[in-house]
Amino acid sequence: MDDTAVGAIRTALSERFGEDLAVDPALPGLDELARIAGHCSHRRYLPRPVAPELLRLLCAAALSAPSKSDLQQCDIVIVSDAAIRKAIAATIADMSWIEAAPAFLVFVANGERLPLLARLRGKPFLNDHLDAFFNAAVDAGIVLGNFVRAAEAVGLGCCPISAIRDHPGVVDDLLRLPRRAVPVAGLCLGWPAGPGEISPRLSLGTTVIENAYSERDLAAEIDAYDRRRAQLRPYRRQRNLARWGQAPSYGWSEDKARQYAEPTRGDFGNFVRGKGFCLD
Ligand SMILES: Cc1cc2nc3c(=O)[nH]c(=O)nc-3n(C[C@H](O)[C@H](O)[C@H](O)COP(=O)(O)O)c2cc1C
Repeated sequence: MDDTAVGAIRTALSERFGEDLAVDPALPGLDELARIAGHCSHRRYLPRPVAPELLRLLCAAALSAPSKSDLQQCDIVIVSDAAIRKAIAATIADMSWIEAAPAFLVFVANGERLPLLARLRGKPFLNDHLDAFFNAAVDAGIVLGNFVRAAEAVGLGCCPISAIRDHPGVVDDLLRLPRRAVPVAGLCLGWPAGPGEISPRLSLGTTVIENAYSERDLAAEIDAYDRRRAQLRPYRRQRNLARWGQAPSYGWSEDKARQYAEPTRGDFGNFVRGKGFCLD
């Protein structure tokens, strides 16, 4: 029995979801569960390098994730060249952690190998449609999540970076990505400079469904989340004051609505098609 882990899990998940969850102290693996429950992204790091052999170990652990049909369509690019990282960071505003992090990686959905297998084995490749891209992108997301989990297990802190898709052509050129290979996310990595903060999530009543979806008052659920989150982690600044002004109460729903009132990455589909994927 590990009371410390049970307490850590219950505290983290109560803060995260606003719900007291039962944790059987006889369960194995509670330390790992506590680490997963206590996840927080880290954007400030100690000036201490991440050893190359540790990076390689974490890549191996991450790539041990399940993979659709064993197709193994995620690659990890370790961006050790400071000039390449600087050039990627230069395309992204207001994210100083990209350049400051001791290590920076890019997770790539690589659909290049599958049609190659068809050519090598003299078979037709008859599945060139949206599912092929989706499978590679999902694999990359799973490997990214597994990497974060492995990194946090050894005490490192991470911050995924989807902003590398703001200008995917730049990343594509810099990393010389092959045809049918698309950057899914970057990842800042380092030894955390501080403890980090639990970020509250929508309640489990909203995101965990038994059997089938039913009629529900989503607006009320979101309002309750806004209020719970405002008490625990109020937003420090409001987005785009010039356009929307100062809101008297500013919660998650207002922040996300403001975020998605600005067009971003509208050309990403064209980029993916240009890389050789069929999205039909
Ligand atoms: C695929 C993905 C892309 C992300 N992109 C960015 C990003 O570009 N910049 C950033 O600062 N954080 C980014 N994040 C981190 C999220 O903002 C963070 O996970 C979220 O706010 C929840 O916080 P938590 O991870 O501390 O629980 C990303 C996370 C994921 C999973």
